[in-house]
Amino acid sequence: TKSQAWSALFSEPMSELVQRYTASVFFDRRLAAADIAGSLAHAEMLAAQGIISQEDHAAIQRGMSAISSEIESNTFDWKLALEDVHLNIEARLTQLVGDAGKRLHTGRSRNDQVATDIRLWLRGEIDAIRALLRELQLALIEVAERNVEVILPGFTHLQVAQPVSFAHHLLAYTEMFGRDEERLGDVRQRVNQLPLGAAALAGTTYPLDRERVARSLGMDGVCQNSLDAVSDRDFAIEFAAAASLVMVHISRLSEELILWMSQNYGFIRIADRFTTGSSIMPQKKNPDVPELARGKTGRVVGHLMGLITLMKGQPLAYNKDNQEDKEPLFDTVDTLRDTLRIFTEMIGGQLNAATGAKEGGISVNAAAMEAAAQKGYATATDLADYLVKKGLPFRDAHETVAHAVKAAQAHGCDLSELPLATLQGFHPAIEKDVFDVLSLRGSLNARNTLGGTAPAQVRRQIARHRARLVGE
Ligand code: ARG
Repeated sequence: TKSQAWSALFSEPMSELVQRYTASVFFDRRLAAADIAGSLAHAEMLAAQGIISQEDHAAIQRGMSAISSEIESNTFDWKLALEDVHLNIEARLTQLVGDAGKRLHTGRSRNDQVATDIRLWLRGEIDAIRALLRELQLALIEVAERNVEVILPGFTHLQVAQPVSFAHHLLAYTEMFGRDEERLGDVRQRVNQLPLGAAALAGTTYPLDRERVARSLGMDGVCQNSLDAVSDRDFAIEFAAAASLVMVHISRLSEELILWMSQNYGFIRIADRFTTGSSIMPQKKNPDVPELARGKTGRVVGHLMGLITLMKGQPLAYNKDNQEDKEPLFDTVDTLRDTLRIFTEMIGGQLNAATGAKEGGISVNAAAMEAAAQKGYATATDLADYLVKKGLPFRDAHETVAHAVKAAQAHGCDLSELPLATLQGFHPAIEKDVFDVLSLRGSLNARNTLGGTAPAQVRRQIARHRARLVGE
């Protein structure tokens, strides 16, 4: 079948297998809207520069609008023999409007065309992902607001360390997702540069106005070297790296949710609709959603490895290797979008339109958290700080408290449950007021420095995040 655009030179058709191996149309048709937008901007500029006629421009516009409708209504006849989204659309355009369709590709190559398409498409996805990241941050803030005074054992090495406000712990994730959002904003600036006009690799002999095309596509600038414009996919790699960090943060949160909802912690519950049962153990509610999210992190990080390896060893300029950039990118975007949406709902709940309240987010067992914090000598540092304020050097205070903890362990009680006389046996400077610092709440309130866990600080952070996210 003579269907390829370059067929005259070829003495035999491609085999079925090679056709299937080299074609991308069954995945890159996802770029159709971007491809049409890029073509329309190119055609408008060609006409403005007098390279094609106004009649041809009008015909191209007419044809493209028909093609858009066909694609939207799923009636477009995608052909494997036409290899990719670009050739499929161009062939259909020519079918619809004749020679004007054949003139569209003047001063253009699929090499600068595809690079433009991915950038346009990715720009839109980045905007959607950043919006989802803001919603997730808001969900975390809403739960934080209700839990400022709830005490969680803070861990290091997964050993009880010091008490923290549960809200403070959630806000740590707000910081991470806030940086992710910012990072994607940085990536966007480098994604949003125009390759079109680079043509195959060397630029073109037609008097193109690349700045005009960049403006009409809402791009921030024009790629300044034609070889670089068509060949590098660093912008996609950078996106995959930023996406991987989002997933790593999601994965850490997942791990904590899974631990917290296990019977041994019992700190939280997530709504049943995010869990599944067991086919054999009737009592089970398994945290499938956070587990899958933790698992999908491997998939996204894998795509980053795939993309960065794809680039390595490619000589300038365009090579067909780059066709392999699409599936990992698409899957990264899909995984991220679904994961962020599901986490926002799992944590923050769903809006009940009737009551205007959010329902079905995570529920917190404050008593279980506090009881756990009560167990691991979480206020030992507070006792050391107390002794320092009484004049002991910190290292001596640390050693004194170690003895006190050892004694409490032997009695099977908390530091605050040791009699004053016993505590004074460790150091005579200890007085009755020591019990204020040995309480979890006293410990929390005492950490009242910027970024600390004292409720007053946590409330300030919540206000800052709110102002940043919704301008309240
Ligand atoms: N489908 C190709 C890709 O995704 C489009 C560019 C092909 N260019 C070429 N000269 N074969 O990279």
